[in-house]
Amino acid sequence: MVKKKIIELIIEEYPGPEELSKEEQLLLNEAIKASKHAYAPYSHFSVGAALMLDTGEIITGNNRENASFPAGACAEHTAVAYAGSQYPGSVITSIAICARKGKDFTDIPVSPCGICRQVLSEEEDRSGKKIKIILYGKSGIYIINGIENLLPLRFSSSVICP
Ligand code: THU
Repeated sequence: MVKKKIIELIIEEYPGPEELSKEEQLLLNEAIKASKHAYAPYSHFSVGAALMLDTGEIITGNNRENASFPAGACAEHTAVAYAGSQYPGSVITSIAICARKGKDFTDIPVSPCGICRQVLSEEEDRSGKKIKIILYGKSGIYIINGIENLLPLRFSSSVICP
């Protein structure tokens, strides 16, 4: 007898930035600003990420492309790597992500790629704290509390270091 396991993902949907808290709006604005400095001459898809540390410090990142495509880096990964190297032991509490093609931000909320989800998962495992993930789209904003709601059945350190 096969058992079906149903996984529930909880995503809060907001119609626009006005509905967000002041802190969430601030973080989103920083992500929007960061997207303007993306280096995306190949895809023209400019991604901005802004993350907040538990100290209140905000770190931003954007995608950095390369003529050898796999050598590029995503916005989220850039921001997380900067935070880890400049603020050792830092705890990420939230991250806002947005993307635009040319001048237009995406209609639907942009969602981190698989590798970036895994990178955020590692940060949660390392700090023991859930990360609030704010995904911006012109038609709405998603807020996701904890990577488990974006990456179910994730591979985590508890498997290799039980
Ligand atoms: N990209 C990001 O920066 N973050 C993601 O989560 C998805 C994709 C970038 C990589 C590449 O520079 C461009 O978007 C198009 O894939």
